[in-house]
Amino acid sequence: MTRRTALTGIERPPGFVLHERRKGLFQRNPELVLHCEDIPLSKLAERYGTPLYVYSATAIRQRLSSFQKAFRDVPHTICYSVKANSNLSILRLLSREGCGFDVVSGGELERVLVADRRAAKKIVFSGVGKSRDEMTAALRAGILLFNIESESELWALTECATRLRTTARVALRVNPDVAADTHPYISTGLRKHKFGIPIRDARELYAKASGAKYLKVAGVSVHIGSQIVEIAPFAEAVARVADLARALRADGHRIDYIDTGGGLGISYQEPGLDFDGRTARYARAVCHPLRGMNVHLLLEPGRAIVGPAGVLLTCVVYRKQNDGKRFLVVDAAMNDLIRPSLYGAYHEIVPVVQPANSATKIETVDVVGPVCESGDFFAHDRELSRLEENDLLAILDAGAYGMSLASNYNTRPRPAEILVNGKSVKVIREREKVRDLYSAEL
Ligand code: LLP
Repeated sequence: MTRRTALTGIERPPGFVLHERRKGLFQRNPELVLHCEDIPLSKLAERYGTPLYVYSATAIRQRLSSFQKAFRDVPHTICYSVKANSNLSILRLLSREGCGFDVVSGGELERVLVADRRAAKKIVFSGVGKSRDEMTAALRAGILLFNIESESELWALTECATRLRTTARVALRVNPDVAADTHPYISTGLRKHKFGIPIRDARELYAKASGAKYLKVAGVSVHIGSQIVEIAPFAEAVARVADLARALRADGHRIDYIDTGGGLGISYQEPGLDFDGRTARYARAVCHPLRGMNVHLLLEPGRAIVGPAGVLLTCVVYRKQNDGKRFLVVDAAMNDLIRPSLYGAYHEIVPVVQPANSATKIETVDVVGPVCESGDFFAHDRELSRLEENDLLAILDAGAYGMSLASNYNTRPRPAEILVNGKSVKVIREREKVRDLYSAEL
């Protein structure tokens, strides 16, 4: 199959864009090279090796600012969900832009405090199994809000707060029993899920919480799942939370904060360029049920801020054919980016360099990694322009839940991470060395 190159759909401006390059003055066929801002990805691969995560600072800032703009008419704090990408430099960048943070472990809490000690007062602590040590650390840091997910956890927090004689501000994370169309592993808002407190039991638990000396009831929180592309489920969940908050106020509680969680999906298959329009629609859906309530809104986006702002660069190690089926074996693997293996997630994969004018040969391939599992793949039966060994590929939309979910399976060191800002290139995490992986072992 032969086709002219049609690379236009692959751009993710302002982060990832194509530029034409002529190798020599007289070369007739220019090439299209995928850049991160002003830097050719081929240059980064040459300099830092592959697999390599590359992020665009401008894209992250722009996506955050789109959220800030969409919610500008209501008092709000964007608490970036650290689990999406927890690199210190990215946390610092977001903190400088005014972000707060949503953490789910003592580890994430420590990262945020290392990135910016002053961010403590904008931290919300979520998660279904916070340990006493983790809650004590958060109390010592003076975080904004604990999102509590069970009665047992509420009493554990009371115990920690009493010991420190510090007041803990709490919200109960309620489970609104709202269905959201996403992968079952990342849907959280139904009764059958482990998350939150059933919304109809919440008033009773709020009543108990308000009797505890070192707890201060301060809000209600909800999170219905991740990678939700429809807006309606958010509106429905927030409407239920708004009803609860009104009832709680009538019961005499002070509800200053409504935390609507994260979950706004991105388009992995057809990246729409109108992110501002999408955040505006999302903001209307979230704010409408809360109008007139005079609350401070907390938002916990992760993927929507960093997802399209990162790619995983990888190199073709071998071409191979088994009974007519073609494989590109690349040097990245499921340990570097597990989303295709774990959720069957789709990620656009594109050659970093392609001829600009001439026709390219298209072939159908599986893009697979070197790990010893058939689940180690990035794409099945994908149409790609023909690539040779040593050619570079970019796996797009890998800025969220890429590196943060990476592991050392098969004793593979995790990739380096690079942050590009215009013409500036910064290594924000060194590539691991094999000896880092066994040095703590006896
Ligand atoms: N808040 C809470 C309480 C959460 O559990 C999550 C995500 C977020 C906020 C951020 O959600 P986001 O805006 O990023 O959708 N590893 C999966 C995603 C897991 C999400 C877990 N919780 C993936 O790669 O798709």
